[in-house]
Amino acid sequence: MENKVRELKDLMEKARHVVVLTGAGMDTESNIPDFRGKDGLWRNLDPRLLASVDTFEENYPLFREFYATRLKLLETRQPHRGHYILAELEEKGLIQAIATQNVSRLHHLAGSKHVYELHGNIRTFRCHYCNEPAEPEEFFDNRNCSHCGQPGLRPNVTLFGESLPTDAWNNTMTEVLQSDLLIVIGTSLEVSPVNQIPRFAKGKTVYINDEIAAKGYHFDLVIQGKAKKVLEQLEQLI
Ligand code: OAD
Repeated sequence: MENKVRELKDLMEKARHVVVLTGAGMDTESNIPDFRGKDGLWRNLDPRLLASVDTFEENYPLFREFYATRLKLLETRQPHRGHYILAELEEKGLIQAIATQNVSRLHHLAGSKHVYELHGNIRTFRCHYCNEPAEPEEFFDNRNCSHCGQPGLRPNVTLFGESLPTDAWNNTMTEVLQSDLLIVIGTSLEVSPVNQIPRFAKGKTVYINDEIAAKGYHFDLVIQGKAKKVLEQLEQLI
């Protein structure tokens, strides 16, 4: 692995515009289970069953309970060293942007500045039906929307069956199209449309993942390993 991390360091030092794309595997070492990895939260359960518009509309209590539990867990989790290293590399000018599928906010908490949350965020809440914003406590207290009265409060995360937040997607595409290095960390690349992003990259591409999934992709460099360890090795070399 060390030689490959050295190659990554060389690619980063040569590149002018580096974009990082992260998935749930970036957060597992902060004790947040991923979805489809070997210990994945939804390994035996189709994510479309719970995090979906259909479940929201057909079984709101189940949807609410699932998200309330997950969001409470995320609230207590902290960035690991790997998140901080990414933030430090941004500060040194070696990374220009991070696009993430994670709603955990750990990149922000670690100090990364240019972060695009492709699957939304857990900071803000709204009513699914009338779109009026809501306070987090209203959601956690299982209250109805204070504007339209419906049981429809939800976090601003992207559900299966919904489009991605337009700004996050457009900003990510702008960054990726001008990048000459895309580093993909800890994602199975199974969920569309984010899994198409590596195909838009014009420059070099790197894939860092614990188990090598992502069949059907060509990466210039593949590093099999845990995100934190790989980034710690990278930090030693830079
Ligand atoms: P997945 O769970 O599909 O993939 C995570 C990948 O990270 C797997 O290939 C793991 O092997 C790998 N992995 C786990 N721990 C790692 C570590 N410490 N270091 C490196 N790699 C590690 O998660 P995503 O691809 O992010 O969407 O999933 C995409 C979307 O599916 C999520 O954003 C979520 C889910 O349904 C929505 O809810 C809309």
